[in-house]
Amino acid sequence: MRSSPPPRNNPVAEADAAPVATEAARPARSRRQVVLITGASSGIGAEVASRLSASGRWDLLLNGRDEGRLGAVAARTFGAALPMDLASHEGCRRLTEAALTHSGRVDALVAAAGLGWAGAYTDMTPASVNRLVNVNVCAVLHLVSLILPQMISRGSGRLVLIGSVVGRYGVRGEAAYAATKGALIPFAESLRYELQGTGVHLSLVLPGPVDTAFFAHRGTPYKRSWPRPVPAGRVAAAVEEALTGGRDEITVPAWLGIPGRLQGMAPHLFRTLATRFG
Ligand SMILES: NC(=O)c1ccc[n+]([C@@H]2O[C@H](COP(=O)([O-])OP(=O)(O)OC[C@H]3O[C@@H](n4cnc5c(N)ncnc54)[C@H](OP(=O)(O)O)[C@@H]3O)[C@@H](O)[C@H]2O)c1
Repeated sequence: MRSSPPPRNNPVAEADAAPVATEAARPARSRRQVVLITGASSGIGAEVASRLSASGRWDLLLNGRDEGRLGAVAARTFGAALPMDLASHEGCRRLTEAALTHSGRVDALVAAAGLGWAGAYTDMTPASVNRLVNVNVCAVLHLVSLILPQMISRGSGRLVLIGSVVGRYGVRGEAAYAATKGALIPFAESLRYELQGTGVHLSLVLPGPVDTAFFAHRGTPYKRSWPRPVPAGRVAAAVEEALTGGRDEITVPAWLGIPGRLQGMAPHLFRTLATRFG
């Protein structure tokens, strides 16, 4: 689906909106790369779509479940909407097939689809545990395994996975979510060994709290006074940096990487401070 962006005649909305490229200003199609973005119907994924579209260097394949929201993002970013539920291997397989049928190749994958859960771990149902693991872990691993072979055979590709600082440190009230996001860290670290010499680069972006509908979608608001949620555009900028540069891991904001050093050197002190300050 390739359509023109909607008319922009509201100066206030225009000032707030992410920049939108015009088709005429974009480089020739043959010089653009194909990126598949999951989670593109909302929050970070939608912001990544806006940013990459504005750069004019990418053709966007956009995945989410909500067809209305996904279609709106696709319309303003010249993207193709490929709605699919990724909670099963079959959904991941069908998305990959749709992407390769549409564009013939996928040069980059931004895996941003994900969901949260907050509360006492013992209050979680088996179904909610399975849903988190299926979307936050299995879907990422399945998509990488489905998309990687055609990248390796071309000798180039970019994989950008959206983890979370919660997966690095752990946090009270988000044990299962932390486990799912934490799983991506050794996955990325290990897979990088296999990718050496293939021309495929894998980056992990680890955001702290981000101002998106994530908290509304999980059904529990963000209640901490600190750290403050950052705009999704900050994460989108990190994703673009990962796609174009060579960094293996980017924490957003960068200072949230500092507690990791304390946790590594003095885990007991880290736990005491985390218990005290949340
Ligand atoms: N917001 C934060 O504070 C924060 C911090 C660190 C990391 N992250 C991570 O960043 C990523 C994006 O989060 P966000 O803040 O942008 O949240 P969001 O606004 O809730 O967006 C989540 C996206 O994931 C998609 N998704 C959820 N379940 C899916 C499924 N079964 N199949 C396909 N797509 C599915 C949603 O699609 P539909 O809405 O169309 O269903 C939506 O596009 C997630 O992996 C999240 O864990 C977020």
